[in-house]
Formats: sequence, C-alpha cells, structure tokens
Amino acid sequence: MAATGVGRTVERETASGVEVSPVAGHIGAEISGVDLTEELSEETVGVIRAAVLRWKVVFFRGQSLDHAGHVAFARRFGEPVVLPRRGSASPAGVPEIETTADRLELGGRFGMEHEEWLARRRHTLLRGWHCDHGARVDPPAATILRAETVPPYGGDTTWANLAAAYAGLSAPVREFVDGLRAEHRLGVGYQPRPGDDAYVRHLLDHQVATVHPLVRVHPVSGERVLFVNGYYVEQIEGLSRAESAAVLEMLLEQAVLPEYTVRFRWEPGSVAFWDNRATIHLAPGDNAHLGFPRTMHRVMLAGEVPVGVNGKPSEPITGTEAGRW
Ligand SMILES: [Fe+2]
Repeated sequence: MAATGVGRTVERETASGVEVSPVAGHIGAEISGVDLTEELSEETVGVIRAAVLRWKVVFFRGQSLDHAGHVAFARRFGEPVVLPRRGSASPAGVPEIETTADRLELGGRFGMEHEEWLARRRHTLLRGWHCDHGARVDPPAATILRAETVPPYGGDTTWANLAAAYAGLSAPVREFVDGLRAEHRLGVGYQPRPGDDAYVRHLLDHQVATVHPLVRVHPVSGERVLFVNGYYVEQIEGLSRAESAAVLEMLLEQAVLPEYTVRFRWEPGSVAFWDNRATIHLAPGDNAHLGFPRTMHRVMLAGEVPVGVNGKPSEPITGTEAGRW
C-alpha cells in the first residue's frame, strides 16, 4: 500500500503486513508489522533484505528478542561471525553475540586512565566514524545491534550513507578518487606515551591492516561506495602525507554531511540492522558522563573482500585473512 503525499507518492511498501517507512532523505527506514521472535516467511525476509540494501540501515522497535532469537534472526540473512576469544564479552554459550556495557574502558586495560587514552588518540572531529572491523581484508557485510538497556536520554547512534556521499561528489572528484586505494589500520594516529606504552605493544602484537579501494563497488547493489572513515584510514596510496591528509579530510567531511546521515533514538528492545559495506556509524559520546547503564548486543554477518571500480580487490597487509577471524 502506498500513502500519497502532496504531489507524489510516499515510498512506503507493505508486504505480508510488513511496512517499510523511510525516516530520512538518503538513509534509514523503520520497519513495522513484524515480530522478529517469529519464524519469518521468505517474503518478509526478502522485504527486509531489500530495505537494508536500499536504505542502508533499518530500525525495528518494540521487539523482544533474546540472545538465541537474535542469532536465529541474523542467520536468515547470512553467516554470523564468531570472534575468537571474546571472553566475558559474549553471553555464555552464544559466541555469535558481543555485548557492550557502557563505555569501553579501553585505557584501563593498558595502565592509563581512560581520559588519557582518549587524549592520545588522533585529534579530529571525524575520528569516531567507522564501519565495523573495517581494517580487516573482509569487513562484515552487516551488523544487527539490539538494545537491552538504554539511558533515558543520550546514547543515540548515527549512520551515514557512503553511496549517497559518493554520488554527491562532483564528477571530476569522483573520477579522481575512483582509482585510488588507502591503508586502513587499527590504532591510527595514536600518540604513544613516552617510554613503555602497553597500548602500543598491544597494537603491534595485534595489528590489523589492509589496503582497500577508496571507492568500492557494492557486491549486491553495484553502487559505488566512498570507502572512508575517520577511525581506520591512514594514508591514500601514492599521495604525499600532506596531500593524503587534505584529500581524506575533504572526503570524510563529505561522508558525514548531515544530509547523508540518520540518527536513531534507542528504546529497550530496539534493533538496528545496517549494511556495513555501504555505511559508517558513530557511537554516542554523550551518555558516559550521565552514569545511566547502556547495554547493547551485536551480531555481525560475514562479508567479502571489497573490490574497487577497476576490479582490483583489497589486499591484506597484516593480521587479517579472508574468512578467518
Ligand atoms: Fe561499530
């Protein structure tokens, strides 16, 4: 059923009672009329799959998935990734799920205050934007994130549509970036502590780095995607450091222009399902100081090695191998 607005039809699709309602101009749709705890029909799975492909991130509200139901839902769309040795981050017996509670106290694990660890990271407003595990040679195809406990205010997540960002570049700049490749690396821009730094040692021992095309061709939609983010991208190949920094800043700003983004206000039971190949997202930075608990559960679906406009695939540098976690 299509609802009519003034002048033209609102794009809203209904199939077997499932309704897809876009929430922003370039990205994001809310899907209603479906209970994710039930066995979904092929038709419903097809509607959701098409909505993720088109709107890049879809939202379900008022769901009551448990861990097993979350994994079962994810399996209808791909193969859940099992991270090695996640320890207490996964609920007992459900290695496909990663649980995050409140902020990541990463600094504390490496002998420094969290604030110092934050201060030692690269200084840029665009730094936190990322796709999940983007420094791997085969980043996950999708992520399905479920909220258990959320703060009464604060704690929203924001996504950006990288296909729309690419399409919004001028033709000469699109042509310029089409053939470029960039290094994606864990821990870029971190300023080491003088002397021994446990975090640097950890980075060196667990380094993950890949050369990805700067523009990847989406394996399903065929869209060109501006494959940049502020978290992992270090250097554009073949450009000087200064040129690379300037071009990256321009592209990162393009990627997160407000018109290419959508912001989601979580409620307990909310589920967000995004295409990790065509988006970047920003974890909230406005809730840790409030002291309210925020517990989220994540399942990622295995992805493939990206391919550039010229057909050339990504190349692993270190710590990453296609299909091996
Ligand atoms: Fe993430």
